[in-house]
Formats: sequence, structure tokens, C-alpha cells
Amino acid sequence: MTFLTIESLDQEGRGIARRDGKVIFIEGALPGESVEIETYRKKAAFEVAVATTIRNESASRTTPGCEFFGLCGGCSLQHMDSRTQVAAKQRVLEDNLRHIGKVTPEQILPAIHGPTWGYRHRARLTSRYVFKKGGALVGFHEKRSSYVADMKSCAVLPQRISALLMPLRGLVSSLSIHARMPQIELAITDTADVLVLRNLDPLVPDDEDKLRAFADEHRVVFYLQPAGPESAQLFYPPDADALFYKLPEFDVQIHFRPTDFTQVNHSINQVLVRRALNLLAPQPGERIADLFCGLGNFTLPIARSGASVTGIEGSAGLIKRAQVNAQLNGLSGNTQFMTMDLFKLDAEQWAALGKFDKLLIDPPRDGAMELVKLIGNDGPRRIVYVSCSPSTLARDAEVLVAVHGYTLKAAGIVNMFPHTAHVESIAWFERE
Ligand SMILES: C[S@@+](CC[C@H](N)C(=O)[O-])C[C@H]1O[C@@H](n2cnc3c(N)ncnc32)[C@H](O)[C@@H]1O
Repeated sequence: MTFLTIESLDQEGRGIARRDGKVIFIEGALPGESVEIETYRKKAAFEVAVATTIRNESASRTTPGCEFFGLCGGCSLQHMDSRTQVAAKQRVLEDNLRHIGKVTPEQILPAIHGPTWGYRHRARLTSRYVFKKGGALVGFHEKRSSYVADMKSCAVLPQRISALLMPLRGLVSSLSIHARMPQIELAITDTADVLVLRNLDPLVPDDEDKLRAFADEHRVVFYLQPAGPESAQLFYPPDADALFYKLPEFDVQIHFRPTDFTQVNHSINQVLVRRALNLLAPQPGERIADLFCGLGNFTLPIARSGASVTGIEGSAGLIKRAQVNAQLNGLSGNTQFMTMDLFKLDAEQWAALGKFDKLLIDPPRDGAMELVKLIGNDGPRRIVYVSCSPSTLARDAEVLVAVHGYTLKAAGIVNMFPHTAHVESIAWFERE
């Protein structure tokens, strides 16, 4: 067996090596290391492999904090110390901006990072009854597989939630519908741990008793979701608090339904909102649009500054709840909300929205190409773009800079999802 030398990391945190001119992406390998590999995907131009033996370990290598690392597909970078993870993600952003966007930010913002364990306040766990295992498994999928990992704990979930994995397995296994409950969604609020059980069949009274007893013993709130996300309804306890999280710095409280989009990492979200607001610097009297606004996570803090804010979003349910959130926070006077498909926006619809001084854009992974193409000469002076995909951010940045004449003043990363290759980025564009 030959050893390969790792030259650098790819966007997913895999080591890159070359053999006879062919690029090999190697999971679990770090730059500077020599590794033996086992290839699991072979193409003409590249291979994908896992490291099986490692020589001269990198100083950045660390012991994974979770015993199921390697089996579970939830994390991919636990073998890399957290400072190296942040540096690698920062480089992914800069490389994407340079190669895809052909832009270089005037300033690199200091990376935002926080606790690296127990940070996940949202998770979609799969539940599957596996006869051979003698019951239900509850957890994330195995790496490169549709099997559910046989995981007894999870280090990126808060400890008390991780400790529920085995009891949840017992609970699901004991239900009459144990084979008809494919998903358990976690939504942690400021006052409760909410679990949404996707039940494909109705529960029988004995199942209901078991759920009540489990909720009382483990202090969780159960919702049942018999159909799509909007069908989720509170099951027990019947007097459970409404679901909300606070953004204390802005004196804002955001109410939500447990299947709504909310940011995965609550503490990092607070810092993200602060940074976005610092960059946007909203002023009373300004007219600002928050595009892809969801429940109003940025809209309401912007409105707190006294600016007039229009939140636009594709989901009618989220817009309805954003409006209620504006009312509950005393911000209906300077906010308005609209449901619109921002991927299909045309020039007429965009013009009808009127002139904005500033935009905040926080699209899904696909980015906001249709939208940025529409920004004309009378477009906003400042755009703050929050993104969960450095490549689509870079693609859109090219249009903003090369076509519309914006300057990329600053960009940086937000380590919203430690130990995974995912990264949140923020970029500030300005035009005279
Ligand atoms: C990354 S989330 C951001 C939400 C919000 N800014 C926050 O911080 O909670 C992206 C949002 O885009 C919305 N979205 C997805 N596709 C859309 C589309 N085609 N048009 C408008 N909104 C869309 C989603 O419903 C989601 O709320």
C-alpha cells in the first residue's frame, strides 16, 4: 500500500491528495499527513476515499468528542481542532469569493464562533424500527447510508437531549405504531424542549398514555404531526407554553411553530443578528427590505431601530406568524410583511415594491440570483447578505460587484454548525 500526502482541504473538510495526476478526496485526513486510503467512489477524474492509516499526524488533529463519530453522518470534522475548523471555513468563503465571484472583500470580518458542543437547538432525527436490533433506532443517518446510526448519545445536541435518545428508542419501540413513526423533530425554545412526532397512523389510547408518562418523566413537550409540517399540533402537556425565543439585545421575542424555520444555534444566532445589524446600521426614517425574512428574526431587530421595514418571504404561514410577532413586540407601526416567491420575482413586481435604502438578504442554499439580477441603478446603497452557501453567495456577489457596481466592503464566517462542513457567511456590499 502506498501512502499519499495531503496537500490541502476541500470545501467539505476532506483532505486532497494526488495520485498519478488524479485528485483524491480523503475523509478523515488533514493537510501535511501521509495516509493510506480505501476508495469508495471511483470516477475518471477523481476518487473519494477514507483514510485508513495515518502517518505523521497533523498538529491540528484532535480526538473526536463523540464516540459515534465516523459512523454517524451528522458530523464530519470532529477529528480537526475547532480553531482549524474555523480557519478552514474562512478559507472556503474566501476561495469561493475569489474563484466563483472574482471578488475580494476589502476587509475580512473576525469569525463568529461559540461553544462547539451541545449547540443544536434544532434537529430532525430519524426513527426506524429495526427488527434485527430488537426495537427502534432514533438518531441521524449513518454516513453515506440510509440506515439510522445506532447511536446512544450525540455530542452536538444539548446533553439533556442527548440523554433522551435511548429513552426515546424505548418509547417508540413500545408504541403500537412503532413502525409508523419515521421522524422526531427537535425544537428547543427559551422555556421548553419540544419534540414533534411524525405519526403516519393515529395513536391508540395506550400509546397516548405512554407519551404522557414520558413527557412528565423527561419534562418534554410532545407535538403530533399526522401529515405535512402545518399539521403539527400540541399533544401534551395541554397547557404547555407558547414556543418562542428571545433576542434580548433588541428586546424582541419571536414566537414560532415547532416545524417553522428557526436558526439551529440560538446563541450564535444572537451574535449573527447583532453583526448583521451593525453592518446594516439601520436609521430612523430609512426604508429597508428584509428578504427571505422567515419569522422576522432580522426584521424585528431592524424595526427596533426606528427604520421602516418590509419583510418578504415565500411561506404564507411564516409571514402570518411574522405579522403576529411584529404586533406582540409593538412593532406593527413600522413593519409590513408580504408573501412572495423571490425566485420568480420579475422586474415589474420588484419596481412595485418601491425604492429601498438598504437590503438584508438571507436566502436558502440556492441563493438569490433572480433577485440580485433585478437590482438596478436606483437599487439600495447597502446590502447585507447572510448565506448558508458560500458558493451561491460568491455567484451572487459577482453580479452585485461586476454588473451593478457594488463594492464588497467586508465578509466573514459564522460557525453556526461546528464539526460539520456547513458554514454561515455574512457579506456587506456598498454602492455610492
Ligand atoms: C435561511 S432561511 C432565513 C429565515 C430568516 N431570515 C431567519 O433568520 O430565521 C431562508 C428563508 O427563505 C424562505 N424561502 C425559501 N424559498 C423561498 C422563495 N422561493 N421565495 C421566498 N422565500 C423563500 C424560507 O421559507 C426561509 O424562511
